[in-house]
Amino acid sequence: MSKVSPQTESMYPADFTMETAQKRKTRYQVSQPVALALLAAALLAIFLSGFVTYKVYSCKSEDSRNISNELKKGHTTAKLTDVRLPTSVVPDSYLVKLVPHLWGEQSNFTFSGFVRIKVNVTEETSRITLHSNNLNISKELTQVFGPNNETITVTSQSRDEARQFHIIHTGSSLKKGLSYTVEITFDGILNDLLQGFYRSSYQQDNETKWIATTQFQPTDARQAFPCFDEPGLKARFSISLARPKKLMAVSNMPKTNNISEPVEGMPGWEWDHFEESVPMSTYLVAFVISEFSRMDNGSFSVWSRRDAIKQAEYALQVGPAILKYFEKYFKIPYPLPKMDMVALPDFAAGAMENWGLITYRETAMLYEEGVSASSSKQRVAIVVSHELAHQWFGNLVTPSWWTDLWLNEGFATYVEYLGVDAVEPSWQVLEQFVVDEIQNVFSLDALESSHQISIEVGHPDEINEIFDRISYHKGASIIRMMDHFLTNKVFSKGLNNYLQNKAYGSATQNDLWDALTEQAHNDQVLDASTTVAEIMNTWTLQTGFPVLSVKRNYSNGSALINQTRFLINPESKTSRQDCWWVPITYTTAATKDFESTKPKLWMKKEPRVEVNDLPKGDSDWLIMNVQETGFYRVNYDKRNWELLTKALNSANFGGIHVINRAQLLDDSMSLARAGLLDYSIALGVTKYLNNELEYTPWKSALNALGFIDSMLVRTAAYANFKAYMSNLMARIYEETGSVEMPNEPQVTVYKRIRIMSWACSLGHQECVNHSISTFNQWLKSENPDKNNPVPANLKSVIYCTAIKHGGQREWDFLWERYQKSNVGSERDLMLTSLGCSREIWLLNRYLLWAVTDGSGIRKQDCARVFGAVSMNVAGSTVAFNFLRDEWDRIKSYVQKSGGFGGLAELADLLIPTITGQLEYQQLTEFATKRASDLGPATRAVEQTIERAQANVNWMKRNARNIEAWLETAVSGS
Ligand SMILES: *[C@@H]1O[C@H](CO)[C@@H](O)[C@H](O)[C@H]1NC(C)=O
Ligand SMILES: *[C@@H]1O[C@H](CO)[C@@H](O)[C@H](O)[C@H]1NC(C)=O
Ligand SMILES: *[C@@H]1O[C@H](CO)[C@@H](O)[C@H](O)[C@H]1NC(C)=O
Ligand SMILES: [Zn+2]
Repeated sequence: MSKVSPQTESMYPADFTMETAQKRKTRYQVSQPVALALLAAALLAIFLSGFVTYKVYSCKSEDSRNISNELKKGHTTAKLTDVRLPTSVVPDSYLVKLVPHLWGEQSNFTFSGFVRIKVNVTEETSRITLHSNNLNISKELTQVFGPNNETITVTSQSRDEARQFHIIHTGSSLKKGLSYTVEITFDGILNDLLQGFYRSSYQQDNETKWIATTQFQPTDARQAFPCFDEPGLKARFSISLARPKKLMAVSNMPKTNNISEPVEGMPGWEWDHFEESVPMSTYLVAFVISEFSRMDNGSFSVWSRRDAIKQAEYALQVGPAILKYFEKYFKIPYPLPKMDMVALPDFAAGAMENWGLITYRETAMLYEEGVSASSSKQRVAIVVSHELAHQWFGNLVTPSWWTDLWLNEGFATYVEYLGVDAVEPSWQVLEQFVVDEIQNVFSLDALESSHQISIEVGHPDEINEIFDRISYHKGASIIRMMDHFLTNKVFSKGLNNYLQNKAYGSATQNDLWDALTEQAHNDQVLDASTTVAEIMNTWTLQTGFPVLSVKRNYSNGSALINQTRFLINPESKTSRQDCWWVPITYTTAATKDFESTKPKLWMKKEPRVEVNDLPKGDSDWLIMNVQETGFYRVNYDKRNWELLTKALNSANFGGIHVINRAQLLDDSMSLARAGLLDYSIALGVTKYLNNELEYTPWKSALNALGFIDSMLVRTAAYANFKAYMSNLMARIYEETGSVEMPNEPQVTVYKRIRIMSWACSLGHQECVNHSISTFNQWLKSENPDKNNPVPANLKSVIYCTAIKHGGQREWDFLWERYQKSNVGSERDLMLTSLGCSREIWLLNRYLLWAVTDGSGIRKQDCARVFGAVSMNVAGSTVAFNFLRDEWDRIKSYVQKSGGFGGLAELADLLIPTITGQLEYQQLTEFATKRASDLGPATRAVEQTIERAQANVNWMKRNARNIEAWLETAVSGS
């Protein structure tokens, strides 16, 4: 599955679990600010001297860690964990027949269904247990047949509500090794909760058009038909769907033939029968019945609303090309006879990789040249690539259980970039990976409340909870690391062996590790005593990631490296003594070899190592973690930071690779934030940006500086911060300008968007005036829904700036355009921009609309509205107060809107630009009071609280120093 577009431009992390936060609260209430500042300064001094004198740590031993506590700590109520099906009966094939009552006079939002399941008995038993949820089973019609089609008596049927089990008790026992057939007749609700078999609608020619569609991952196939709903229980599926004649139905497989069969008792309806599938998991079954239009390229088709079908052209162009790329990459032909991709107006996730029938929310598949921004185009390519990668990794070979979800998602997230790079090489997506995946997830994984990516899960709430940024981005980052430390050749061969051996079956992460180990040993990339499992377990079973501290000895050309866990909050009480298997790569001013990413040495889960082949004398810089291929940060001694800063300020940035320039910015600013490096050194690194024109380092820098911005924005120091930033950006602003040129490279376009949005937000006069006047042109245009003078790529900047500096007139105008727009990405952008207002009442009204049925904002977009308002300086308090005051309303509206996003997303987006003690207290009080409501959002809320606490502490610790540094920097230049 693919996540909803990451809205979070810059993260505001921090560090605390709910419990510790509450214990500490009292202490801060009684402390005087002055005493605290002194204490903070003292702490900082301790950290710094600890670094300089080089403290030797030992590694924490593996068994001191209680893995299940790690997971459970956030849950206030104990959850059922033994939710697995008995293994005595396994499915072999399904015949599924469904009639959705959604169209015409008799529409009542229900469906009738019948399923015939062939099962194999592996252990003698007299019960058949399968999943069903929200289905009404006609018990009197349930039948069981024996191997010779003899009737087996059903004595009773019972229900285990907590486990969502339907249990059929038989009169005689079912024999091991034999096959039986179960028939169940049922009906269910075509819900509007975007899960299971659900309904969706849209307007066309002033009529409401209805769609019946599915979203099963992870545990909602059981809402559409009774089934053995676990990923490891693969079976063949034959699907039949009834529909009114003028509609069309698609499913995983092609239709058996083109002659359709009438539906008894339903004039004007017909059956579509689909070919029997290959063995597959229930969560990958899918079907869509609609009036959609279609375009195709051979056996590859795209579908959408008639009015949007032209926007599917790009998906149809890159889809088949990426599919071809993956056939080559995995060295296995695409296993199914066809591919359909459908853009749905209501969809909870970003997209879903159902085998042979990928479903998308519209913004993840549709793109209109000249209307949507280029970033939407990239998003389409990325999501299409992600879902296509799953057709092999996930669908052909499936994780046996959800515990390995991280591997499935991490893998698809890594190779989605390879797929896009293959079809759009000028986009530099492999560079962008470093900022968007690694650096992005570093900020989350540096929290105490982060979690290990390989987690035992049972209950559906827990399963839903792990579809989070850590699983996707950290998973992708450590898989990229593996691709580099094993070398591309070994990685690809091992992967291919794994897929070949496990095709149509299920596997665990250890099966992949074993295949890679075997290949690595054959090709002598790892020595015989080392396994991939041993290395990777340190990354998947331990929370967080390391920072390497490098202390060079300039006279003899050596360096000591030690590793400790990196935590963003200097006050974290969590142990830092974890150790990882760290692949170490480095280069120096003498060699400048930024190409070789094979490790020069390993830290084998040991606290320290020494390198001896460095240049002597103190004039050559050293950079570790070449192209940031390793999932770790690096800190250096003061002299090496000076050498690096000097190099960055010299011609051609001293020859330092562009990815490593981004790394130096991100590492140094994060180290400073964590109290491991003096802010004067980190801010000193940023000074070179005066001359930087590449996108990737700027993106890293602006993310890091975005944090400082959000911290200082309400303080007197903001004037100097603005001056410093304006000066830093002067050259790149001039270079990229505010006007688009035809045929510019994608990254130039991105650069302009980033730079302009910063410039406008800092109040750069030309930028603001340009935005307002362009918007006004639009406002006055004759037919604004047809003629929009705002260039597609600059819409985000211009809309937001005009709304921010405007009033109700501008707001209502944009709201009207939102309601009339037919382009999903444009609508998203407008929703985000509407949150930029500084009028409190407008923001409150907007939030209210976001949780009101029929307001014009779709359920799936509710979190976007909250995110937009809370990212706004004027809006964060408004959003937080609204969340507290209107909790019950929000809860009933959001909680059931489709599992994944929902509350967790809301909590995540309510990134408090909380920097004050009072707001922080209000946040913890709120979380405590509503703990029982939070469900799958528990962890997200914990993370939010941690971040807020760290913000509060950060202000106390750093605000003054930074203020002073900025003062000097601004007056000195
Ligand atoms: C069920 O049993 C049949 C006959 O022994 C066998 O061919 C088939 O592979 C089995 N299916 C599963 C899913 O075990
Ligand atoms: C819904 O409508 C269908 C078709 O008219 C009918 O067969 C079914 O019983 C109805 N279901 C309910 C719950 O009313
Ligand atoms: C099995 O028996 C049922 C009724 O007893 C009958 O309807 C069905 O057609 C039979 N199936 C086969 C495969 O013979
Ligand atoms: Zn996915």
